Amino acid sequence: MKFLPAKKLFSFFSNDLAIDLGTANTVVYVRKGGIVLNEPSVVAVKLGTNQVLAAGRAAKEMLGKTPESIVACRPMRDGVIANFELTESMLRYFIRLVHNDRKTLIKPRMIIGVPSGITEVEKRAVKDSAMQAGAQKVYTVIEPMAAAIGAGLPVQEPSGNMIIDIGGGTTEVAVISLKSVVFCRSIRVGGDEMDMAIVQYVKRKYNLLIGERTAESIKIEIGSALLTPDAAHQSIEVKGRDLVSGVPKTIKLSSQEVNEALIETIASIVDVVRVALENTPPELSSDLVDRGITMAGGGSLLKGLAGLISRETGLPVQVAEDPLFCVVKGIGRMLENLDFFKDALME
Ligand SMILES: Nc1ncnc2c1ncn2[C@@H]1O[C@H](COP(=O)(O)OP(=O)(O)OP(=O)(O)O)[C@@H](O)[C@H]1O
Ligand SMILES: [Mg+2]
Repeated sequence: MKFLPAKKLFSFFSNDLAIDLGTANTVVYVRKGGIVLNEPSVVAVKLGTNQVLAAGRAAKEMLGKTPESIVACRPMRDGVIANFELTESMLRYFIRLVHNDRKTLIKPRMIIGVPSGITEVEKRAVKDSAMQAGAQKVYTVIEPMAAAIGAGLPVQEPSGNMIIDIGGGTTEVAVISLKSVVFCRSIRVGGDEMDMAIVQYVKRKYNLLIGERTAESIKIEIGSALLTPDAAHQSIEVKGRDLVSGVPKTIKLSSQEVNEALIETIASIVDVVRVALENTPPELSSDLVDRGITMAGGGSLLKGLAGLISRETGLPVQVAEDPLFCVVKGIGRMLENLDFFKDALME
């Protein structure tokens, strides 16, 4: 994916933004321009202030490694704002980066993706933080709708489209027809929960304490939902702190062990897909037999997951192109075609 330089664009085009403010990653799309920013949703500030020292990749590097005077944290948890001030600081920082620090801007309109299970209070927090970060007007759209549009599903047709969006904090499953959500279920389980499960597993089995970032690399390297012959015999060296002696220690972890650690989280994802299928009206279910299910979000990249969901549901399952960008691409399309998609947007 090619990122366009924001500076040039702004001299010609409006600066309206489509934002996927995710638990793990924030992605920003500018109207008539494309994706201009893709950074981890992490911010580092001076202790006791909202003064941003770093955000995005640079701040993610600092997670768990900061001295006492610096706080590096992820202000979003489970798909929603956990720390309002820090989310706002992070968003402001990213928006300023996209705007190349121009001071005299017309305030942009923004469309922001929110989880379908969001409460009114949580939605208000997202909108307020975007307004505080400089928006003129903020619309929201539920993420599975955006993901389906971004995955290229024909959401405007009178037929069943099923999307599963597995992010860092949430998994959302939706059936969409005629630009409307027919059924939708969201659980606060996603990639983060997989990482935590690996941390717990290693702690229980080896008395070894590892960080979330290490767990995430283990998951991406050798994690798999299905132990196919390819995936079954891999292993990885894991460094952490021995809980008994307190000193650094290295162990070897196999793909089978990682699979075992992930089983419960994966089962809750499969369960929510089943619930969605059971609640899909029969005329739309029959469409799913031919079209299958489409997966989006970073979690859909877990090896073997599409295969497992296909086995458990008996339906074809495909991972969308650029799964990490489906939501932002979908919101971007809505921004470009506001009239066509106006019913799917919320004020
Ligand atoms: N190759 C991979 N295998 C397994 N998991 C992956 C892979 N690549 C990314 N992930 C996971 O995907 C998650 C991030 O996905 P994504 O950016 O879609 O989430 P998000 O939109 O920020 O979160 P949410 O939608 O829940 O707010 C992380 O948990 C990350 O570890
Ligand atoms: Mg997401």
